[in-house]
Amino acid sequence: MSRGALVRLTATGLALGAIALAVAFFIPWLPESASKEREGIDFLTWFVTIISIGIFALVMAVILYSVVRFRAAPDDDSDGPPIHGNTKLEIVWTAVPTVLVLAIAVVSGVVLARNDRIPKDALRIEVTGEQFAWTFKYPDAKGLASGGTLRLPRGRPVRLLITAKDVIHSFWVPEFGQKLDALPGSVNHLKITPTKVGTYPVICTELCGLGHALMRSEAIVMPPAEFDAWLRKQGEDVGQGGDGAGKAVYANNGCGACHALEAAGSTAKVGPDLDKLPDLARRAGEPLEEFVRESIVKPNAYIEPGFPRGLMPAYDELEGEQLDALVDFLVGSSEAGK
Ligand code: CUA
Repeated sequence: MSRGALVRLTATGLALGAIALAVAFFIPWLPESASKEREGIDFLTWFVTIISIGIFALVMAVILYSVVRFRAAPDDDSDGPPIHGNTKLEIVWTAVPTVLVLAIAVVSGVVLARNDRIPKDALRIEVTGEQFAWTFKYPDAKGLASGGTLRLPRGRPVRLLITAKDVIHSFWVPEFGQKLDALPGSVNHLKITPTKVGTYPVICTELCGLGHALMRSEAIVMPPAEFDAWLRKQGEDVGQGGDGAGKAVYANNGCGACHALEAAGSTAKVGPDLDKLPDLARRAGEPLEEFVRESIVKPNAYIEPGFPRGLMPAYDELEGEQLDALVDFLVGSSEAGK
C-alpha cells in the first residue's frame, strides 16, 4: 500500500470515528444518573461504545477505501489476482478482538460484583409488585408502608427485597440503572445507593397484564436527615393510636388512590365511596365494624354492585395495631359523615 493510500485510509477512518463519537456524546441517550450503581453501568456502557466506535470506523474506512480504490473499470471483465491467506493479518484480527472481548468481560465482571455487593447495614425496603401497583415497606421501622411511593435517603446503600403477589413484574428506576424481576414466591435483592435528591419514575418492565403500562410509581430521594425525620414521623403517627394512627395507615397503604373518604381528603372513584360504608354494610348484611375489617383483609367477600370483582388487592398483611387503627378510623369517619 502506498503512503498516499494509507493517509487517505486513515483520514477516512478518523472522520467516520469523529462523526460516530459526536452522535454518541452530543445526543443525550441516557437519563440522568442518580445512583452509585448507575455510575458503574454508565462507565461500562461508554467503554463498550468507544470500542465499538473504533471498530466501526476501521471497518467502514477499509470498505469505503476498497469500494473507491478497487472499483472495476467499465470495460474490465477480468477476475482479480488469486490471493491465499495472510498469516500476519490473521494473527492480528484474532488477537485484537480477543483482547477487547476479554477486557469487556473483566470490566463487566468488576461492575457487576460491585453493584451486587450489599453491605450488612444497608437500609432494607420491601418492594412488592402486584397487578398493577407497587408497595414499599420499611421492615426496620415497624414494617411501615409508604403508600406506593418509594422514599430513599441520599448517600446510603439500600437493599430492596423485591417480590410479587400474582405474576412476574420487574422493578426499574432508569436513573438508578439497576433493574430486577419481581417473582411471586421468591425474594430478589437489589442494591441502590442514591446520589441525587429528586423524584424519579418507578417503572414495571415486565408485561404483566392489561394495566402493565400504567404500573408506575415514584421514587423520592431525600436528604438523609429529612428521610430520618419522615420515617420517625410515620412511626409516631402509627404508634399514636386514635384517629391520627388510622389516617396514617390509610395514607401509608394508598387507600386514597382508589377510594373517596372525606375525613382523609381523598376523592378517587375506582372503588366504593368509603363515606357510604354504613350503607354498604347494610347491603352486605353485616355489622359495620366486622364488614369493614373483612373488606380490607378479604375484599372479595362482598362486592358492591357496579364494581368489578378482584380489583382490590387483599391487605392481609395488615395486622394488629395497624388494622385496628384503620378499622376504627373508617368506621368512625363514615358514621360521623352520616
Ligand atoms: Cu407489572 Cu408490568
